[in-house]
Amino acid sequence: MSADLTGKTALVTGASSGIGLATARAMLDAGCRVICMARRTAPMEAAFGDAPNALIQALDVTDDAALAALPGSLPEDWRAIDVLFANAGSDLGGRAHFLDGPIADYRNTMAVNINGVTGLVHALLPGMLARGSGDLVVTGSVAALATYAGGSIYAASKHAVHAFCDGLRKDLAHDPVRVIEIMPGTVETGFAAARRHGDEAEGKAFYDSYPAVLSPEDIAQTILSVLALPQHINVDSVVVRPTGDKG
Ligand SMILES: NC(=O)c1ccc[n+]([C@@H]2O[C@H](COP(=O)([O-])OP(=O)(O)OC[C@H]3O[C@@H](n4cnc5c(N)ncnc54)[C@H](OP(=O)(O)O)[C@@H]3O)[C@@H](O)[C@H]2O)c1
Repeated sequence: MSADLTGKTALVTGASSGIGLATARAMLDAGCRVICMARRTAPMEAAFGDAPNALIQALDVTDDAALAALPGSLPEDWRAIDVLFANAGSDLGGRAHFLDGPIADYRNTMAVNINGVTGLVHALLPGMLARGSGDLVVTGSVAALATYAGGSIYAASKHAVHAFCDGLRKDLAHDPVRVIEIMPGTVETGFAAARRHGDEAEGKAFYDSYPAVLSPEDIAQTILSVLALPQHINVDSVVVRPTGDKG
């Protein structure tokens, strides 16, 4: 089962790479109009520049002022957002002892992963409530379920995302807006290289060390399956791991 998103508008952050790029593409294929956002516009232009239903805009989710101004900064006919996919994420300095990474990297991870998500929701939820419908889809992680050595900051950020989604769902208990937390295991994306400021060799070695990994398209398919459910069904959270590596 997959969603027919014809006539809907989605805003996807982290659309320049990995899960966000694959999900933006799957949403476009499902008939959706998609606002693709990330700091780097070139990869989004390469992927979606020819798609008539895509709007590409630069956004740094750590920029509170840009988030607050976001709804008004969009072209008027793109402002009624049905689906927010708050997906941009960072693990700068992660997979290393806490004292081995610079505090600036950790501040960035917290700013992107939790402040970025809350800022986006704060900016876009009022419009959804006013229109009487909306879907908030947030990328969490299995790191919200368990910590690991070298993951204190990233796990803290994703625990915060998990708690935010849970609390927000309670705030919205009587409102027609779904809050869906996607919690992936290991997905082969640019993420492992990005945590080392773009070290592709280390990124590849990281994914090669796992017996099985998911693809970004696997996560996109999962998201579209959940969105396809009738609006009265709110799947709170989805833990997605690769078959063959469920540890
Ligand atoms: N890969 C995994 O194994 C895995 C597992 C569980 C959860 N996740 C989560 O999945 C989400 C997507 O990650 P991914 O695996 O697809 O990694 P990715 O390929 O590195 O993509 C990360 C995306 O986040 C964007 N981003 C980073 N900092 C940003 C900022 N300050 N402002 C705006 N956009 C920013 C990047 O775009 P720009 O650099 O162009 O800004 C990029 O598009 C993250 O939330 C991550 O925590 C990943």
